[in-house]
Amino acid sequence: MTLELYREELALTAAALAAPGSGLLAADESTATIGKRFEAIGLDNTEANRRAYRTLLATTAGLAEHVSGVILYEETLFQDSDVIAVDPLAAAARSSGNGAPLVELFQRQGIIPGIKVDLGVEPLAGALPGESWCTGLKGLGDRAARYYARGARFAKWRAVLRISSEGCPSELAVRENAWGLARYARTVQEHGLVPIVEPEILMDGDHDIATTASVQEWVLRTVYEALAINGVFLEGSLLKPSMTTAGAECLQRPSSEEVGEFTLRTLVRTVPAAVPAILFLSGGLSEEDASVCLNAINAAAAQPAAPWHLGFSFGRALQHSCLNAWGGTNVAAGQAALLARARANGAASRGTYVVGSEPSDDSSLFVANYNY
Ligand code: 13P
Repeated sequence: MTLELYREELALTAAALAAPGSGLLAADESTATIGKRFEAIGLDNTEANRRAYRTLLATTAGLAEHVSGVILYEETLFQDSDVIAVDPLAAAARSSGNGAPLVELFQRQGIIPGIKVDLGVEPLAGALPGESWCTGLKGLGDRAARYYARGARFAKWRAVLRISSEGCPSELAVRENAWGLARYARTVQEHGLVPIVEPEILMDGDHDIATTASVQEWVLRTVYEALAINGVFLEGSLLKPSMTTAGAECLQRPSSEEVGEFTLRTLVRTVPAAVPAILFLSGGLSEEDASVCLNAINAAAAQPAAPWHLGFSFGRALQHSCLNAWGGTNVAAGQAALLARARANGAASRGTYVVGSEPSDDSSLFVANYNY
């Protein structure tokens, strides 16, 4: 397989994911992470509960108006739902249960399925304490081919960097994580998957917004240099960065306008215009803060118009009130909460979100040293 075979398709997929007024639902929590979410609502982390919750997400009517794609965990990509398959013959051919595959339910709605392909982070030998590298390159081509055959059309790889007064991120961590992202991106493009390049900078720490901005410029510059060396096809790729904001313990809290202006400045200085969309992670911001900041980024990007679609790829900030409202049984309430935040973020992706106009749960979603 070569990238040439998929070039046109990759560009079309990336453009579809970058549809105006839309973003991604990051529902790719690992089994351990979704277990923590379930624990918070008093639910056991069983396969049946994970199936029920992800069926709720996949059957939320109207979600596709604001959500162009969904990032799945491997279990979900291959899991059947609780919804009885329309075609009984197809159902009979399935190995487990009668339900239609979850992936098919998303596709039926017009939501493009994607897959988390990294295998998590490990300590980075030779770097500073707490620094990591992202694993999963070995055998990635074969996995990508299997995921494509099952319907996935894009992939995600989350590299993690931190800022600290002890010197993080080190040059070693920046270079290693940029290189890993580039090897991953090139590899999955050769199998037809659009890579989401995610160099997350954690919010842990007391650094100010200007410090985040200068570190993030360095990180993104290094990432795009590595992508170029690896021949990654930028028009068939997406960026998933953190918003440029102060560390969670910084006493000088930036306004959403400042977050908008700093984030845009960072991106304009570092991200090639060939990239179709920049889809932010929520990183521990509350549901409403994430929407308000995304709205401010789009407001800052309006004049002159930024070259990319600026949308969302939220996990916590899209699902928090949904999980609480569902509580394991109330599907309608969970779906209504999900749709409300999807509408809010769809509007924020256009810069038209009115603060407080959609219900949210305003608890802080920040988790120190976050693992996905
Ligand atoms: P959050 O929006 O919860 O930060 O997660 C998004 C994600 O996909 C992290 O990799």
